[in-house]
Amino acid sequence: MIIRSHAAQPASAPVVDNWLDAGWADRELRADVSVGLSSRPKELPPKWFYDDHGSDLFEQITRLDEYYPTRREREILEREAGSIVAASGADSLAELGSGTSTKTRILLDAFAAAGQLRRYVPFDNSEATLRAAADELAAGYAGLRVHGVVGDFEHHLGRLPLDEPADSGAVQPRPPFMVMLLGGTIGNFAPAKRPAFLDVVAAAMRPGDTFLLGTDLAKDLGRVEAAYNDAAGVTAEFNLNVLSVLNRRLGADFDLDAFEHEASFDVDNEWIEMRLRPTRAQTVHIPALEMTVDFAAGEHMRTEISAKFRPERVRAELGAAGLVVQQMWTDAQSDYALTLARRIRRP
Ligand code: AVJ
Repeated sequence: MIIRSHAAQPASAPVVDNWLDAGWADRELRADVSVGLSSRPKELPPKWFYDDHGSDLFEQITRLDEYYPTRREREILEREAGSIVAASGADSLAELGSGTSTKTRILLDAFAAAGQLRRYVPFDNSEATLRAAADELAAGYAGLRVHGVVGDFEHHLGRLPLDEPADSGAVQPRPPFMVMLLGGTIGNFAPAKRPAFLDVVAAAMRPGDTFLLGTDLAKDLGRVEAAYNDAAGVTAEFNLNVLSVLNRRLGADFDLDAFEHEASFDVDNEWIEMRLRPTRAQTVHIPALEMTVDFAAGEHMRTEISAKFRPERVRAELGAAGLVVQQMWTDAQSDYALTLARRIRRP
């Protein structure tokens, strides 16, 4: 179902398409939990961390001394936004997983300074968050047209409204769009799922459009592990919060005191892996799924992987999707990279 809201509003008011009907998140959560908790080892996808409390905890994580990625990405954006905008040749920006759009402003400012700011297309799965951000940005940037999309990465990226059909229905030529995915979110995808994801992103773009991708880079594993095992215990609380989400939404009876946070670097896979480990054998009931789940003492349950990339890998994976790397920017310590890749025409 699509809900469009653009009638009777001032010219600069955002348009928001919502592709997620009310039951969508519930169905998705149920499917993820029943599959994940029946798997060996057990697994829960990271997207369920982010209820209001989880989003707030993640916000706190980004301010921790140990958690460098957000700070590094911001550093690069603040230093290079002008070069990124110039290199892209774009006049419009689409942002995948836009959230509160805080870092977006650095780029929008650079587009505006270059005199080429036409459209902003945020894409997120939270309608409330997206609407708030869309309203704020539309009000803050004169002449900017905001067209948000509420959807899911796995199903709705093909609906990114980068092209605006003319009245005739014909697709008009337009200046290049820049599509971006920041935060290192790509690292949450299993490597086997990344090619299909990048193919879908590339398919939503036209030749000449660019993709700006934020990736955390491979580095000393002590620093990576510290970033996911902060001294204040915020990451532990963030990890355990997924159990509260299941308790609230599915009526489950997880005892949060009976699980421990764990995060360690997997050297072979080059990813940090977050887990929840039961401190004793226990049985959990999930009434909404009519499911009973046994945990052995010490049995681990995976809740997130976060890949740390080598630049060659970023280049290779983008290239395989027809996205040719044009330029890469890193911070002074090479902790993090922003990569701009241009969509080419493919056979
Ligand atoms: C938002 C997915 C990029 O993988 O580093 C932070 C989430 N997990 N601390 C990451 C996260 C634990 C974060 N991403």
